[in-house]
Amino acid sequence: MENKRTKNDMYYPSDEIVSKATVKEYEKRYQESIKDREGFWAKEAETLDWYKRWDKVLDDSNKPFYKWFTGGKTNIIHNAIDRHLKTATRNKLALIWEGEPGDVRTFSYHALDREVSKFTNVLKAMGVKKGEIVTLYMPQIPELIIAMLACAKIGAVHSVVYGGFSVEALAERIEDANSRVLITADGGFRRGKPTRLKEIANEAMKRSPTIEVCITVRRTGKEDCFMETDRDFWWHELMGMPIASPYCETEVMDAEDTLFILYTSGTTGKPKGVVHTHGGYAVYTASTFRYVFDIKPEDRWWCAADPGWITGHSYIVYGPLICGATIMSYEGAPNHPYPNRWWSMIEKYGINILYTSPTAIRGLMRFGSSWVEKHNLDSLRLLGSVGEPINPEAWRWYYEVVGKNRCPIMDTWWQTETGGFMITPLPITPLKPGSATKPFFGNEMAVVDDKGNELPPGEEGTLVIKNPWPGMARNILNDPDRYIEKYWKAYEKQGWYLAGDSARMDEDGYFWIIGRMDDVLKVSGYRLGSAEIESALVSHPAVTEAAAIGLPDELRGNAIHAFVILKDKFSPGKELEKELKEHVVSEIGPIAKPQEIIFTDTLPKTRSGKIMRRVLKAQALGQDPGDITTLED
Ligand code: PRX
Repeated sequence: MENKRTKNDMYYPSDEIVSKATVKEYEKRYQESIKDREGFWAKEAETLDWYKRWDKVLDDSNKPFYKWFTGGKTNIIHNAIDRHLKTATRNKLALIWEGEPGDVRTFSYHALDREVSKFTNVLKAMGVKKGEIVTLYMPQIPELIIAMLACAKIGAVHSVVYGGFSVEALAERIEDANSRVLITADGGFRRGKPTRLKEIANEAMKRSPTIEVCITVRRTGKEDCFMETDRDFWWHELMGMPIASPYCETEVMDAEDTLFILYTSGTTGKPKGVVHTHGGYAVYTASTFRYVFDIKPEDRWWCAADPGWITGHSYIVYGPLICGATIMSYEGAPNHPYPNRWWSMIEKYGINILYTSPTAIRGLMRFGSSWVEKHNLDSLRLLGSVGEPINPEAWRWYYEVVGKNRCPIMDTWWQTETGGFMITPLPITPLKPGSATKPFFGNEMAVVDDKGNELPPGEEGTLVIKNPWPGMARNILNDPDRYIEKYWKAYEKQGWYLAGDSARMDEDGYFWIIGRMDDVLKVSGYRLGSAEIESALVSHPAVTEAAAIGLPDELRGNAIHAFVILKDKFSPGKELEKELKEHVVSEIGPIAKPQEIIFTDTLPKTRSGKIMRRVLKAQALGQDPGDITTLED
């Protein structure tokens, strides 16, 4: 049944969608949830299993270091796996995974438990202890999910470094986390070619010598890996040993114990290790997932992100597993070997819900609708989008061509730091293409000016979150001052969280996200700091100074343009331009490759020497640079 549409470009869900929806009425429930926030979250937490119930839902005695469900004893694995083993869910598929070459692996909840338990015993044999940070640098293979869950099960903290990052980015993250154990793979398949992760890991281990144990999955079998005696072990060999018993008790954790850290880019060159916990994060990811994607026992859910990003952590792994859902995961490129790869998998596996990024949608849209139309996508019921504002053109294509005017699009706004959806539709929400609509239950959000005055509808301002929520980041690893400074300082008086995005609210109370206000770039949905790209450039012997900005790009949202000042003995040229681009790739990864390198003699700076990137951006776009009174020259 097609959804209804009105003249003002609102898209209404069909009666069928509404009749099946878990939440039939938003406004009343929303009002109740913000009136009694703790009551709302207590009820949500009751849907999970606890070893011991919490004493206090929210402890705000040491703001902004909020604590949730204090006194509660749990482990996210207790909810994501253990409890399902006592019900029919044990025999249900937890994971359907397809490799890029077409190999398929599936795991029931029972089988997943066995694999996870085996790997926990391997980790224990390697001396991994509760609270220790284990770094994971892997392709999109089931072992990544298994390793994450295994860490959590024994109370170790996982730090997943996205497999697209390169040497310097990996080394820096290993060092900051002071990891002793690294889990990686020889590589993965991407566009028909094996990537070379172990080689990069080997280089990174040279730069950050904290790693004592490195466990490598043999995925491609293509690379002749260098394996260092006494440090390097093959995953399959360890898992085949008697130490890898398939039984392991789940460690009892405090609700506030750290589950994982995940590095994300900020405004300085140093990435932030965002800290999430066992208790509040479990409650938040499960509730948001259940309400927003309306998951049913018979559903097959596909979040086409990499498990190495927050989207994958929250909505491939933890939220869905807690809800006992069947997850689909795919290793490779969306257009390999042909642009119908995704559509053919939706048809083959009968996927009911697809959640992806605007950049992926735009990329597939480029190949034309006929690739989609070759396939029967009748199984789809809901669609989702995340990572950047979705432009109305891509929204409509997704809605009409992929969803056949039947499937509402859940455009979810959130961040690594929020742990889960903050502004999001529900299946019953009338949609406006390009708007993430309204706050999720329990959250009050606003668009304000510098002083914290709420702006009238239509006016662009700063997006703030006015309350704590269970999925919120608790800290930045090793840097509590930065946590306060970045998120809580700007509206200290009011106690509001600064999201770093600009937005506007319309007369219907719908939020429209405009983009980042700081020097954070969103390139193909990936979050990068200008400063990270600049420090990669400056690490090249020819460069003395650099400034990186993002300029609008039809496909990627933003493309990186880097302004570079060379050292005296170097001169600009095509060769050097190419070399610098490759240098950024080898330091950070392909996602950070500048589209343009512009050689220059000066950069606009403040009198205190800070590069004014916004002046460069305005200049490149032919716009007014705004206030330039602090400009030095
Ligand atoms: O700018 C917003 C954008 O992504 C940022 C967060 O990036 P990251 O921590 O990598 O998390 C991405 C996945 C949750 C936000 O500050 N963003 C995320 N979702 C949306 C979005 N912008 C517009 N619409 C969205 N739905």
